[in-house]
Amino acid sequence: MVAKVSKLASFPKVALRVDEMMADHASEAKDIGAVIELDPALSAAILRVANSPSYNISGSVDSVARAVALVGQVEIRNITFAICATKTFNDVPNDLISMEDFWKHGLYCAAVARSLGEQVRLRDADVLFTAGLLHDVGQLVMFNQCPDASRVALQQSLDENDGLMPHLSEREVFGYDHTEVGAELAAQWNFPSKLQECIRQHHTLCDETQTIDASVVVNVANSLAVLAELNSSDLDEAPPIDERAFKLLGLNEDDIPELIDAARTSVEPLIKMFVT
Ligand SMILES: [Fe+2]
Ligand SMILES: [Fe+2]
Repeated sequence: MVAKVSKLASFPKVALRVDEMMADHASEAKDIGAVIELDPALSAAILRVANSPSYNISGSVDSVARAVALVGQVEIRNITFAICATKTFNDVPNDLISMEDFWKHGLYCAAVARSLGEQVRLRDADVLFTAGLLHDVGQLVMFNQCPDASRVALQQSLDENDGLMPHLSEREVFGYDHTEVGAELAAQWNFPSKLQECIRQHHTLCDETQTIDASVVVNVANSLAVLAELNSSDLDEAPPIDERAFKLLGLNEDDIPELIDAARTSVEPLIKMFVT
């Protein structure tokens, strides 16, 4: 399934070039900026993201080179991957979800994940925006390659009486779910391993040995993203939150309204860039 989608939509060369330049530690912000600027749409999207409230440097980023210097090379590489992946998937047809709804959910997850990462001073926070945006990308692969089975799984998850979480419903129908498919795509596209892990783990329940890492943050952000989309702070309306993960991050219910507000402010200016 993943191999077929990879053939249908190859990952843009500019992202791979940026990745190579970063692997070669001699590259400077201006060199990386120059490569990204060859793609005007990508440059515009990076400037939007860097100037969004999520990054606390709003308004001061006027060139891609400056974005690279201020946001950091690793994070810009990850954002480049995310933007390229969204553009790629906007060309992969599916009848089951609007791309607007899909990327909105991803953007809200990205924004909440960044806020949470800052709050808990996560060390590997540079992956959070991209991981949030792409966490459900496996669904797009499944929707495109196996639309009929995906429709069955989707309908089963929407059933009011015994609606399973979508990933559990997929497991019943396919024997695996979108976390595994997404992680496989991320592996085939040579995404950083941390990013692959966040995609793979975003529905995995924490065990007692779990420590705070990016995948726990994305896991909680996924549920809170749904609240941000609904503009609600009522946990009953969100997909069930992994309680252990919630506690691990030191969160309580009173923190939610602020997180939701911040996410909404951050996401609004970005939606147009990602939804074409
Ligand atoms: Fe998911
Ligand atoms: Fe999700």
